[in-house]
Amino acid sequence: MAVETGSRRGQANWSALPVPWAVAAADRIPKQRYYDPDFYALEAQMLWPRVWQMACRLEEIPRPGDYVTYEILQDSIIVVRVDAENVRAYHNACRHRGVKLVEGNGNRRTFVCPFHGWCWGIDGRNTFVLQPEAFAEGNMHPDDLQLVSVRCELWGGCAWINLDDGAPALRDCMEPFASIYDAWHVETLRTEWWQSCRLPVNWKLATAAFMEGYHVPQTHPQLLPTSMPSSSKPPGLARTNLYFMRTLGEGMAGMTHANDIRIAEGLQNIELPDDPAAAMAIWRSTLNDAIVSWHRARGCDMPDLNDLARRGITEAINFAFPHYFLLPQYSSASSYRIRPLGPEETLFEIWSLTRIPPDQVTGKPTPPEPMAPDDPRWPPIPAQDFSNLPRQQKGLHSKGFEFMRLSDQIEGLISNFERVIDGFLAGLPYDTLVPAIRKTNTTIDVPIADLGFGS
Ligand code: FES
Ligand SMILES: [Fe+2]
Repeated sequence: MAVETGSRRGQANWSALPVPWAVAAADRIPKQRYYDPDFYALEAQMLWPRVWQMACRLEEIPRPGDYVTYEILQDSIIVVRVDAENVRAYHNACRHRGVKLVEGNGNRRTFVCPFHGWCWGIDGRNTFVLQPEAFAEGNMHPDDLQLVSVRCELWGGCAWINLDDGAPALRDCMEPFASIYDAWHVETLRTEWWQSCRLPVNWKLATAAFMEGYHVPQTHPQLLPTSMPSSSKPPGLARTNLYFMRTLGEGMAGMTHANDIRIAEGLQNIELPDDPAAAMAIWRSTLNDAIVSWHRARGCDMPDLNDLARRGITEAINFAFPHYFLLPQYSSASSYRIRPLGPEETLFEIWSLTRIPPDQVTGKPTPPEPMAPDDPRWPPIPAQDFSNLPRQQKGLHSKGFEFMRLSDQIEGLISNFERVIDGFLAGLPYDTLVPAIRKTNTTIDVPIADLGFGS
């Protein structure tokens, strides 16, 4: 069956997969995907147990014995640092009668079950059973008493888990995202703040809100060039650029870091040529060099921003399927993680990450208490994004609304993301899914892609 798009443009070589509420026209997304309990249950069965998920930042578990619990749907996973190099993950369930072993996070040498006191080392080996002679020998095999391992791999300053032992390696599922952010040295970024929002919307709706810049004029008017002190010529050029940096900085509480803004302020009066393009090029490269030298001088690992620009690594945002974003700005970055809490409930987390000299890193970040989307403490940009989402979730239920009508040119990432999900729900093999995942691990504002699912 040929793909049907509302516009008949951007035809991709694929057909609707045998999935309820499948995306049958690439630019039309059925609304039921965002609230139908059966669709949600299918995701819980076919998607989440087979994808790499960001389980924690490694700075949460710097020392041996440091652990966090990562909760996804009905599963709880213990992620624990065993030594300087190794982090392991286990199902958070006692091998005796299933009690959840630990809650939250902390530091332990031994996990002790609160019910009958069985114990495990951080290497997962059982170290104590009360009255083992009271059990049949067949129930006491040491191998069988180990905590059940979960796949865990490290990348980009984070531990990632996958509940499927047959899944491809993390890196295979993270390209080209992983290579781009290796170049950014994201593994040395540190948390400046970490906040979370409990949103009354489906997790895919929350995700899609960050997959296009088409909403910026209406939702974030302060980010439009027309709201800036306008000039593409010096000296206004530096002022315009600084306006944008400050607006992003205040808007996200650190998306453009105050350190970098201060460095730009110091350069405001440099000599620039009259030609606007040449002036912009010199302003950018001078600012990049100044930021790089400042951070390196204080002992931070910092990529060469002009080298990244020369290599074309300039995207302001990239998505990693299924639930992670990175948004670098100069020395720093924002990062998002999205998790379903129910068909119409989502945990949306935001990190503000920056460069901190290694000798000034103090303590470890701990999970924030989730805030409401309309909490006055949200900085302006997320507050604006969050304000639309509950209204959109309500609107989806309208009898007068059937499907989302996507731009096949600039809202394509939403379609690509939704159709990879269909690939998972249809149980496609990994060698078909991985190339499609890579086509969603992209920047935003991209066209609908051919995911190669064929017909
Ligand atoms: S349930 Fe854990 S020791 Fe019995
Ligand atoms: Fe936004």
